Amino acid sequence: MTALPKSAPLPLIIDCDPGIDDAVMLMIALMSPKLDVQAITAVAGNVPLRLTSRNARMICERMGRPDVPVHAGCPRPMLRKPVTAEDFHGMSGIEGIEIFEPKAPLAPGHGVSELIARLSAARPASQTVILSGPMTNLAAALVMAPEIANSIGHLVVMAGGDRISGNVTPFAEFNVFADPHAAAIVFDANIRTTVLSLDVTHTVRAEAPRLDSLGKLPGTDARMMADLLAAGNKLEARWKNGQMAPMHDPSTVVYLIAPEIFQTRPCRVSVVTRPGDQFGRTKVKDTRSGPHSWVTAADADAFFAVIETLLKARA
Ligand code: BDR
Ligand code: CA
Repeated sequence: MTALPKSAPLPLIIDCDPGIDDAVMLMIALMSPKLDVQAITAVAGNVPLRLTSRNARMICERMGRPDVPVHAGCPRPMLRKPVTAEDFHGMSGIEGIEIFEPKAPLAPGHGVSELIARLSAARPASQTVILSGPMTNLAAALVMAPEIANSIGHLVVMAGGDRISGNVTPFAEFNVFADPHAAAIVFDANIRTTVLSLDVTHTVRAEAPRLDSLGKLPGTDARMMADLLAAGNKLEARWKNGQMAPMHDPSTVVYLIAPEIFQTRPCRVSVVTRPGDQFGRTKVKDTRSGPHSWVTAADADAFFAVIETLLKARA
């Protein structure tokens, strides 16, 4: 019997601000045979850029992928004063693993220039991009070269909230709150975008039985992931009334690997940028066909099963 041709891995650029959950996301992306992580661009967010750009390289090295280029992007948001989130990620940005200076240096070239160069060279609608931090880098790239929007076939972002509107303020989620003007530019660019918001990430948490199960898997990757999730849980519990950490950023990658375990609705997202108590709020308007797709639900057990399968294959 002739074997069916395997589909080629999806070319992927990840823009992130590691961050414990960004680190877990990078691990999943680098483990998946369905994804081809071509470049990582770092942005200031959970911790300053100097740390997010080091942390991304640390994860690449620990996953045996020091060849993935990591470019440093914007060190601050467009307009607002910078905000960080050490309370939830630790002073290093990645509490839970030993910090070291990665062997691979930062890749040459600014993250924004790199996004423009890679997207300019890509065929129309061919490139998938994940944003798991403040959207400053892609927004700057879109201002400098608006035509790159045509190359993005699918943008997947962790941002905002509707039913659950905020985690930093009653109305705003961190990634949007940290640079609402950038988020407005990105959502206004009419790119096909899937939005993983607090509505869904708060339903997928690293609860103790799931963490126990991951922790029992053999291999150093499973150990590292269990350590990261345990550290995230500890910090979340301290500030959020004993709750376990939501799988915010990992949901972007799991969505690309297993979209069938999520439900979505077509919409258009806008962002409140005027000063006031709703600053950084996302507003979701139902549409017939996008351009945005709001993820409304996920099968949390299936989500963790996807991660376990990848970790087992690596052991
Ligand atoms: C988002 O904020 C950050 O702290 C996390 O890394 C995630 O991207 C959740 O609101
Ligand atoms: Ca993040």
